[in-house]
Amino acid sequence: MQLKDAIEQRKSVKKFDLKKPDWRKIIRAIDAARFAPSAGNQFVTKFILVSDEKKIEKLAAASQQGFVGKAQYVVVAVSDDSNLIRDYDKRGVRYCAQQAGAAIQNFLLALTEQKLVTTWIGYFYDEQVKRTLDIPEGLHVEALFPIGKETKIKAKAKRKKGLDNIIYFDKFENKKMIEEVKVSRSVH
Ligand SMILES: Cc1cc2nc3c(=O)[nH]c(=O)nc-3n(C[C@H](O)[C@H](O)[C@H](O)COP(=O)(O)O)c2cc1C
Repeated sequence: MQLKDAIEQRKSVKKFDLKKPDWRKIIRAIDAARFAPSAGNQFVTKFILVSDEKKIEKLAAASQQGFVGKAQYVVVAVSDDSNLIRDYDKRGVRYCAQQAGAAIQNFLLALTEQKLVTTWIGYFYDEQVKRTLDIPEGLHVEALFPIGKETKIKAKAKRKKGLDNIIYFDKFENKKMIEEVKVSRSVH
């Protein structure tokens, strides 16, 4: 799959096929995460692959989102920002979140490439997730990812903001490029 297709085809999916996805594909997607950029090249995010049904039920309860419990695998991303804070002070907190986001996007694109689907779950009770997976106190749970194969009835891709709505030139809110180029045409 071309990178452009993976970027454009990734979408949040909350219904999973009954067929179990191949765990090797999930491991491959986690492998893609570690190639993300990271402040000082300190990669601080870990990915826990959860297959234990009871734990998955507990993760669904922790997120109060029932569909999480319907997945046969859930990946939980956890970061430790302590070394980044030691090296970069308060900015370490920001660097940690940004690095986790970059790593997660690699992970999501690699899942998409392998025809697996998920939804980024950011809402959950941190303490419940930590207790379920024995995650130490000081670490941050970034997100949960219930993973499956898509059902025959496909989820609709959401409408996205147009390029014109997210781009400025030379200063904030300036929508005109110096060269008279139609931006939306130049990328296709
Ligand atoms: C930080 C973050 C937190 C999110 N938390 C949730 C969540 O708790 N539950 C959920 O159903 N979707 C969650 N989402 C998924 C978004 O709702 C989804 O990405 C958005 O609606 C765009 O749809 P798309 O992923 O299909 O492009 C989250 C996404 C992000 C980036």
